[in-house]
Amino acid sequence: MLHIAIMGFGTVGAGVAEVVRMNAASIAEKTGEEVNVKYILDVRDFPDSPYADKMIKDFAILESDPEVEVVVESIGGAKVALEFTRRALQAGKHVVTSNKELVATHGKELLSIAKARGVNYLFEASVGGGIPVLRPLFEDLSANQIEEIVGILNGTTNYILTRMVKGGVSFADALKEAQSKGYAEADPTADVEGIDAGRKICILSNLAWGKEVLPQSISMEGISAIHLQDVDIAAKAGYRIKLLGRALRLPDGRQTAYVAPHLVPENCPIAVVDDVFNGIIIRGNAVGDVMFYGRGAGDLPTASAVMSDVLDAAAHRQNRRDIGWNESAEITPAGEIPMKWYLRGSFSSEDAKTLCGEVEVLSSGAVITGALTEAQTKDAAEKLGAAAMLRVL
Ligand code: NDP
Ligand code: HSE
Repeated sequence: MLHIAIMGFGTVGAGVAEVVRMNAASIAEKTGEEVNVKYILDVRDFPDSPYADKMIKDFAILESDPEVEVVVESIGGAKVALEFTRRALQAGKHVVTSNKELVATHGKELLSIAKARGVNYLFEASVGGGIPVLRPLFEDLSANQIEEIVGILNGTTNYILTRMVKGGVSFADALKEAQSKGYAEADPTADVEGIDAGRKICILSNLAWGKEVLPQSISMEGISAIHLQDVDIAAKAGYRIKLLGRALRLPDGRQTAYVAPHLVPENCPIAVVDDVFNGIIIRGNAVGDVMFYGRGAGDLPTASAVMSDVLDAAAHRQNRRDIGWNESAEITPAGEIPMKWYLRGSFSSEDAKTLCGEVEVLSSGAVITGALTEAQTKDAAEKLGAAAMLRVL
């Protein structure tokens, strides 16, 4: 019997309890071991819950119970979750989390405590919700040199964009819908302003290249500055606008990561990823492009990823998974790497050509430049009086 404790009985924590309940028999059959949720820690009261007899408020109870082998952290944030994770690892328990803020900001420290204590610290659910992407990255793609990771990493913003563009729903209403479905962060600013996707691209980058990239060292832009006019122009010209997280390692060794809205050509598989779904492309030098697709948020999808880690931790009780990252990466600001840009304004395409070189004309007053740095593009945009400037994948 594998005894686990869940910390935080919200969307994810309740989803974990439900997956354990609904798939108890098949999990036991596959792993040869039954899973028992022994404790659920939360600050709230759940008197009518079928789990009422398991609810605790004092972390020390699960910390000091030697029967509890795996602790699921789904509280969120980097305060109490950090303290409880440190203590659970120090107590010799495996910890599994969906908390990307904690992994992105304190992962290095927590992984080193886990190593010292001989336990696992696993976080598949911290990126891509239910999509298995971290384990394939550090396990199945380990024979590759990773060149690029790019994708839709936030379910809430992709849901909002889809509802606005395809459903004609307002931004505020679409955000409310995402919140009611349990997709959004406690403070949805983290979703809307690209911070959540930024934490996720840092985790992906850390695993791909083994060097720590902290969220505060990369540029993060969200969806609040996207105009529906640009969505329309882009669509007519064969592009979709998507919020992407992107991490690159260039042949000259420079490394960058950032989050920003992009025009994505409609023949790119990411372009058709809608609703709460995420789509992540990883390019390896042997395999080429591999794409991961699935639900990026929500209770049961995220719980699926959490439980995969719970079972993986149990399978690696003796032979712990040695994952981690070391010294800080040297990050080249994304703006210094030449990329294509979309500009829209009331300028002529001739003026755009004069300032930007060859351009693809999308419509009157809307062009895509060749590869330019951000500074070069801003300079041209200013001279053209452009009203919109977006990256192009
Ligand atoms: P919720 O807010 O739904 O759940 C968190 C729960 O923890 C709440 O019940 C909260 O109570 C409780 N809590 C707060 N403080 C404490 C404390 N000190 N001790 C015990 N319990 C506490 O969050 P989610 O389930 O949505 O998210 C949890 C984590 O998973 C976050 O890091 C999030 O980013 C991540 N995540 C979420 C996904 C999703 O689809 N929702 C998907 C993937 C990852 P109260 O409400 O009173 O604060
Ligand atoms: N708020 C996050 C999202 C949850 O919408 O993607 C999943 O990490």
